[in-house]
Formats: sequence, structure tokens, C-alpha cells
Amino acid sequence: MSAQTFADLGVPTALSTILANLGIETPTPIQAATLPDSLAGRDVLGRGRTGSGKTYAFLLPMVARLDAERRAPRKGAPRALILAPTRELVSQIEASLAPLAKSAGLTTLTIFGGVGQNPQVQGLRRGVDIILACPGRLEDLIKQGHCSLSDIQISVLDEADHMADLGFLPGVRRLLKQTPRNGQRLLFSATLDNAIDTLVKEFLTSPVTHQADSAQSPVSQMSHHVLHIDRAHRLGVLVDLASAPGRTVVFTRTKHGAKALARQLNSNGVPAVDLHGNLSQNARTRNMDAFHSGKAHTLVATDVAARGIHVDDVALVVHADPPTEHKAYLHRSGRTARAGAEGTVVTLMTDDQVRDVRALTRAAGIKATTTRLSGSSHPVLTELAPGERLLVAGGYVPEGGVPSSGGGGRRGGQSGRNGSGQGGSRQGGSGRSGGARSGGARSGAAKSGATTSNGGSGGGRSRGGNRSRPNGPSGAGRSGGSGGGRSGGASRGHSAASFSSGR
Ligand SMILES: Nc1ncnc2c1ncn2[C@@H]1O[C@H](COP(=O)(O)OP(=O)(O)OP(=O)(O)O)[C@@H](O)[C@H]1O
Ligand SMILES: [Mg+2]
Repeated sequence: MSAQTFADLGVPTALSTILANLGIETPTPIQAATLPDSLAGRDVLGRGRTGSGKTYAFLLPMVARLDAERRAPRKGAPRALILAPTRELVSQIEASLAPLAKSAGLTTLTIFGGVGQNPQVQGLRRGVDIILACPGRLEDLIKQGHCSLSDIQISVLDEADHMADLGFLPGVRRLLKQTPRNGQRLLFSATLDNAIDTLVKEFLTSPVTHQADSAQSPVSQMSHHVLHIDRAHRLGVLVDLASAPGRTVVFTRTKHGAKALARQLNSNGVPAVDLHGNLSQNARTRNMDAFHSGKAHTLVATDVAARGIHVDDVALVVHADPPTEHKAYLHRSGRTARAGAEGTVVTLMTDDQVRDVRALTRAAGIKATTTRLSGSSHPVLTELAPGERLLVAGGYVPEGGVPSSGGGGRRGGQSGRNGSGQGGSRQGGSGRSGGARSGGARSGAAKSGATTSNGGSGGGRSRGGNRSRPNGPSGAGRSGGSGGGRSGGASRGHSAASFSSGR
């Protein structure tokens, strides 16, 4: 366990004070490993588990180094670039960056599609220090002459391996090529594999590689379970698990599957929202806000929500359809058990999926407990998701009335959903405020988990604390924000949620 502080690692006091005010005082292993090199200006390739604080691992050196130089950005030529695969993630990173950037007097701007480009163009025209972007819109703006990357001193690729596969690679390469050769480059992900070799060879100069955990990276506070079920019982099992106290993220393989399942959960009394590439921008925003605020306790998503997305206190991740590969398993599962909190991961498996699921868990390097269910009720379900089941007639109905996922029916009272007597909810404000971090089940665990390396799966862990339901809408921090938003004020939430990938 590291007794180091951020100051020990070379983080300027102004920045470490901001983190301390957020309740963040002990660097996680990936932060401790990378900060000395990244603050010194070296190129870094960093891997650390899901939920292990990679975001600050790249934000801190970026802000510190830009601040040290004290130079105003030229109009249309930002000084630093963060690339991430989804708009949701870009917005989330900006929310983490905002207080750090503000204290250093640095300006930030998010750039992604699905929203009007004018605020982004205006922001660039005024001159901005740090841009956070999805590749597509950034390339568009560059082509239109609104942005040049010739002054970029630091580039970050979050979810680097993901940015190196799919359709992202050509765009990412084109963008990085436009940044100065001698600039600093930081690549981070919970999984690094051969896919990023191309980018490393082409764009990193004498990089330092830091892997803050083993090649397969089980998160020690995460317990893994497989429920072997008959197809006919799938919905019943999901309703049971998702109606327990605590936030649940359910992953499906397809967009249609996510939509249909959210609708079914709602009509069975589980307030649920869906998130996938078929939704309009407004619906994505509305649905993520509902999940953040606690109006909907269950998010049914495709893999588009698997990477980097952080929502406090997700108690349970359910793979309603097993993912197709182990990286997806790790990233999806990593939406729970973050920052040292405990979390439970359940994979539903039908007869025809037995072989695939076995291969998957082996490749992911995790040990899962398998239970055969002969119906949709079984004592194991309350072990995995403890607490009283609460159903709300009609499920989630958005403000203004029209059910987003066809739940229909009368909206039931939400008041009964508060987890019984748990300490402070983590909602309210930005979720990153000092107050929020001190409440609830995670405060103690967050410190220790950050430095624990491995081990301890299996029984005997208390789940109760982590399953407290957020109750009622959050404070201001979760709302607002369009693509062109500039930081500097209160933190922005995730409501610019939308995704640039096809899922
Ligand atoms: N040193 C720390 N101590 C305690 N909490 C921390 C620390 N650093 C970051 N956190 C918190 O941990 C949570 C997860 O951080 P973050 O989103 O950066 O994880 P990540 O490693 O990027 O995960 P993923 O691989 O899923 O993207 C956030 O709420 C963040 O505020
Ligand atoms: Mg991340």
C-alpha cells in the first residue's frame, strides 16, 4: 500500500488541494506509477483497472504542465487535446477537469457531433487551452478551418485500445499526425493489447509503459457470478435482480435488445432507461439524467456504455447477453466496483451459451460462481442483490409524461425506494464534491481499494451498504451542458450524453 501523497509525486499543491476537497488524497496505483513520468513530460502508455482513477492520471499532468507554461492559447489553436470514444465520456472527463482547469485559469471546450457546431466554433475562435473531443466532429471542424492542432503540446487518448480499433483508428491517426511531433502523448486504458501497437510505434517517443496490475486485471472488490437459466426465465430473473435496492446496469448485445428489455422491465415495475446508438440525442440525455438522478434505477445499455462511464454506486452489472469478447466483459463489468467500492457482476447464461461463457471468463481471468436456476426465483438472487424488492407501477415515466420505453401506466410513488437507512446518498452536486464522497458505503473502501492489488473474491462480503438507492433528483451538477460548453463554472454533468459510435 502506498503512503505517498499527490504532492510527493510532484502534483502542484493547488491541484492536490482540489482533489483533497473532493475526498481524494491517496493516489491509486496507476496514478502513483504514471504521475512522476507524465509530470516530467514523458510519453506514457498506462493500464490500470476499471475504476482505478486513470482520468486524473492524465488530467493532473496536463493541467500542471499547461499551467507551468503560462501562455494564452492562440485563437483556433488549442494547447492540449483529449480524445475519447463517446460523447458521454467526453462530457464526463470535462466534468472532472473543470475544477482543476478553473484553478489554473485554463479554458476547456468539448467537441462532438449530435449538437450544433456553432458554440464549438465560437469557443475555438475565442481561444481555448484544452479541447476534449470525439474524433469525427473535430476532424470536421479542422476541415472547415475552425481549428488547428499545430499548437497541441499534450495529447491524451482515453480508452486507447478502443480508439485503436473499430472505425476510430484512421481518424485518430489523422488527428495525431497534425499535432507537433515533439508534443507529449499519453495513452490510457484498462486493457491494452496489440491493437494499439500501431499508434504507439507511430506517435510515442521513448514511451514509459506502466501496468498497474496483472495482465488480466480482476478488480478485487468485484464478485462474479453466472446464472445458468432457461430462456423463459430471463425476464423474471432480471426483474428480480433489478428491483433490489441499488443502481443496476444491464448490458445487451443489440440496440433492439436494449430497447425491448427496458420496455419489459418498465412494464414489470422496474424503472429503467435504455442507452444505445438508436436513440435521439434528447432521449440519450434524458435517459442518462434519469439514471444519474435516481429516477430510473436501472440502465439497459449496449456496449456503448461499457467504456469509461462512471456513475456512482452502481451495485450490480448484469450481462443479460454475454459479451462477445473478454475485453468487453471487463469494461462492462467495470461499471461497478469502482474506486474501491464493492460490486457484483452477474452473467445470464442459457444452455447454448455455456461454452462461450466459460471461454469468456477464462480469457477475462476471473473466477465466477455458477448457479443453475430452474425458475425465476432462487435464494441466490437475494444473495447477489440483497434487500427488499420494490416495484413501481408503470416503471419509469419521463417528465412530461410519455414513457421513453413504452412502460405505460400510472407512475407509482418513488419514495419507497430509498434503501433502508443507508448513510448519505452520493447524489447531489456533482457527485464529486467533498460531501458526496464522504457519504454512503464507499468512503472507507475507496481509499483501501485503490491500493489493493488483488485477491479476495467470493463470499462473506457485505453488500448492503453499496445498494442504497439514490432517492430523488440530484443537485445541479448533473444537468446542463451542450457540446460547446466551456468549463470554469460549476461542474457539468453527463447530460450531453450521446454517442458517436454506431451502437
Ligand atoms: N486517488 C483516488 N482515490 C479515491 N478515488 C479516486 C481517486 N482517483 C480517482 N478516484 C475516483 O474514482 C472513480 C473512478 O475514476 P475513473 O473514472 O478515472 O476510473 P478509470 O480508471 O478511468 O476507469 P475506466 O477504466 O472504467 O475508465 C471516480 O469517481 C474518481 O473520482
Ligand atoms: Mg476512464
